[in-house]
Amino acid sequence: MEKNAKIYVAGHTGLVGSAFVRQLRAQGFENLVLRTHGELDLTRQADVEAFFAEEKPEYVIDAAALVGGIRANSQAPADFYYVNMAIQNNLIWTALRAGVKKFLFLGSACQYPRECPQPMREEQLLTGIPEPTNEGYALAKIGGCRLCSYIKRQYGADFISTIPANAYGIGDCFDPEKSHVIPALILKYHNAKLNGAPSVELWGTGAAMREFLFADDIADGGIFLLENYSGAETVNMGSGSELSIMELSQLIKRIVGYEGQIVCDPTKPDGMMRRMVDSSRIHGLGWHAKTDMETGLRKVYEWYLRQAGHPEG
Ligand SMILES: NC(=O)c1ccc[n+]([C@@H]2O[C@H](COP(=O)([O-])OP(=O)(O)OC[C@H]3O[C@@H](n4cnc5c(N)ncnc54)[C@H](OP(=O)(O)O)[C@@H]3O)[C@@H](O)[C@H]2O)c1
Repeated sequence: MEKNAKIYVAGHTGLVGSAFVRQLRAQGFENLVLRTHGELDLTRQADVEAFFAEEKPEYVIDAAALVGGIRANSQAPADFYYVNMAIQNNLIWTALRAGVKKFLFLGSACQYPRECPQPMREEQLLTGIPEPTNEGYALAKIGGCRLCSYIKRQYGADFISTIPANAYGIGDCFDPEKSHVIPALILKYHNAKLNGAPSVELWGTGAAMREFLFADDIADGGIFLLENYSGAETVNMGSGSELSIMELSQLIKRIVGYEGQIVCDPTKPDGMMRRMVDSSRIHGLGWHAKTDMETGLRKVYEWYLRQAGHPEG
């Protein structure tokens, strides 16, 4: 990608999109086109077409999506299916017709079959049904990856897709109703420290293994793929390392500086015992994640303290 290339980052206010903006700027890409959701609703096809006609972006990174936790996904499968299909179809098809040089679509690890052998390889997509609680979202994401692959085969246009591992990072959602496991644990230990609580309860046995990828590493890997990959097959992007929920808890407890006990509640569900993407393909291309868990978590906690106006921030 030329340093002065015009790059549109869709969803730039989100966890992953904002990391793309930071990484692109850090790598010397300054000609970015950005629109908030309020300025451009990507579910509206005519508006998307008018935007492309006006701005003529050369590269597009699609980090715009309706994203939510298990509860939101299971309560509103129609929204998660329709809105994501609409956003990605409008973006991908308009970009194709506008002659965009390269397009990057972001999938999600939840699009793999529920019973997928671990770690999950790209060949295992569409070999089984996804987890029912987020089926609508998963089907839309499968559709986005497939559409990029069909476009590559049918039109030869450079439309690629990647499936990153679970993201965490600066700007993550700390709303206890909606947050994912990392911000939820940070908040739990932070509040326990402030309140002097003797212990913190951890759901499940703590034995479930998980892989996480720092959002800035997702952006770094995405830029790497834009510059180095043009295949029709989607590419997993993981950190390549996993840790148990107990190890994650202990790490966050130490970073936050909480000195009480962690008490497991094994009557609560662990979820899947292992969930990891196989990153052999992207490693073979020459990309590896740069941020270890401790460094990433420290950055997120420092950001959280700063934005919460905490004296330690
Ligand atoms: N979070 C993860 O663990 C993870 C992991 C792997 C891949 N991904 C992928 O990365 C992408 C972004 O995820 P994220 O976690 O960064 O989500 P996020 O923080 O919720 O950000 C989503 C972005 O999309 C925008 N958006 C939503 N609906 C829109 C619409 N109709 N028109 C215009 N903009 C719209 C949002 O703006 P508003 O907030 O103003 O609505 C926001 O900027 C998704 O495709 C997701 O599958 C995420």
